[in-house]
Amino acid sequence: MALPTINPTTTEAWKKLQQHFNSVKDVHMKDLFAQDKERANKFTVKWDDFYVDFSKNRITEETLKLLIELANEVKLKDAIKSQFSGEIINETEGRAVLHTALRAPKNSNFTVDGVNVMPEIYQVKQKIEAFTNEVVNGERKGFTGKAFTDVVNIGIGGSDLGPAMVVDSLQYYKNHLTTHFVSNVDGDHVNEVIKKLDPETTLFVVVSKTFTTQETLSNANTLKDWFLQSATEDAIAKHFVAVSTNIANVKAFGVDENNIFPMWDWVGGRFSLWSAVGLSISLAVGYNNFDSLLQGANKMDNHFKNEDFKNNIPVVLALISVWYNNFFDAESEAIIPYSQYLNQFATYLQQGIMESNGKSVDRNGNPIDYQTGTIIWGEPGTNSQHAFFQLIHQGTKLIPADFIGFANALHGNKDHQDKLMSNFFAQTEALLNGKSEAEVISEGATGDLIPFKVFQGNKPTNTIFINRLSPESLGELIAMYEHKIFVQGVIWNIFSYDQFGVELGKQLATKILQEFNNISNNEHDSSTSNLLNYYKNLT
Ligand code: F6P
Repeated sequence: MALPTINPTTTEAWKKLQQHFNSVKDVHMKDLFAQDKERANKFTVKWDDFYVDFSKNRITEETLKLLIELANEVKLKDAIKSQFSGEIINETEGRAVLHTALRAPKNSNFTVDGVNVMPEIYQVKQKIEAFTNEVVNGERKGFTGKAFTDVVNIGIGGSDLGPAMVVDSLQYYKNHLTTHFVSNVDGDHVNEVIKKLDPETTLFVVVSKTFTTQETLSNANTLKDWFLQSATEDAIAKHFVAVSTNIANVKAFGVDENNIFPMWDWVGGRFSLWSAVGLSISLAVGYNNFDSLLQGANKMDNHFKNEDFKNNIPVVLALISVWYNNFFDAESEAIIPYSQYLNQFATYLQQGIMESNGKSVDRNGNPIDYQTGTIIWGEPGTNSQHAFFQLIHQGTKLIPADFIGFANALHGNKDHQDKLMSNFFAQTEALLNGKSEAEVISEGATGDLIPFKVFQGNKPTNTIFINRLSPESLGELIAMYEHKIFVQGVIWNIFSYDQFGVELGKQLATKILQEFNNISNNEHDSSTSNLLNYYKNLT
């Protein structure tokens, strides 16, 4: 069954939400809390070691009820079923969407074209496990007989951001191997990494689903050339492994057949860290931790699949986000983890969310006249408090924010942790309450200064509070956002799993690159022509 093709704005629920919006848009959350002592409990979901409080949103019980009606009217339940049962829901690319199968138990049954894909998945997982153990234990050696000390992940987009974010987030759990990530086609990136490498002890993991991506192939070739300055061709088999669906191109690059980790076209790039694309994660933190990450994601999958919408964390977060995006006209959402380990989390989610839901044609092929994907940005707290929080507090834009925090610090420094968490709680409270004129005056402000010190408050936040950052809880957290993306795509009636916009950029760059070598005519607008000529004259 294909995904439903219902324009959300034509539903009864949408019309009711529009009316409801008119009656609640100016209500202050402070008053909602004052009116209902049970508000926090009513809008909190406790699940596993997650405590998700979405009470600090500009919603009432009626809002949530209507949003759930919207989800029902666009047939979200059927859509979830279609995804998990391997139907071709990525219709524009003719593919199933089954990253959830990658983290499912061995005895599950996920079928693509009538074939259960679990045996294949577990074969590759075994290969990842065996390879990881050999490298980490030092049994697998480089061309001069030394154990590996460094791993370089060569990839871009989904073949870089996921592994890079997870390795960084789980650095507390890391082993002795040093992991590097080379992604940008900017040669300065790869050359800076090369400065840190010893060819005798470096393992290269080339990750590209298509094995046609310009950036990845350029970086892989540069690293291979650099490696061959110290080694002979036959050493490549010991030092280069690849993750791809394109086995022919991988072999042509020179990777030994035994060193190829397959993936499948039913795994989207930005949802692929659970596959062999996560090989560098497994190498960095060990296979058991990689597996725990997958198990965490699987727990969240089950929660998403089975829980009523009212207590379903990804569904509720998605609905609230639709509420701001489509009724309050909020354009962006901030992701603020109160953990330095999650430094790359917002960057990672930018691809997941914006590449998936940055679409303006609906599933019927018609242009859309309502807002779809939100702009995602963010940085860890407390640093971000001293950078962009001013605008969230007192700017003119409404920026709903997810605050992600962990109760227990991994290094256990209570003093720092209490200070960190006091900021975490204080910020969402301040964003809710603001500061009134009376409070400003009671603090001693006088005269003309008073209006500048008043904060309106009423700024929405979700608090996603987790016991501890672990491979498992990180897996749960990432999967939570993956499902939020899916729910929003279903509601907005768009295809979330293609990315033709990015592919256009790839084609245009290739054309211009050929022009540097005078292969085709220069047929650009005058601005681009001037820039091309200016560049050619300077280099
Ligand atoms: O950025 C566009 C994109 O197509 C992503 O979806 C993908 O993750 C990335 O390029 C890398 O593609 P590949 O893994 O095929 O090299």
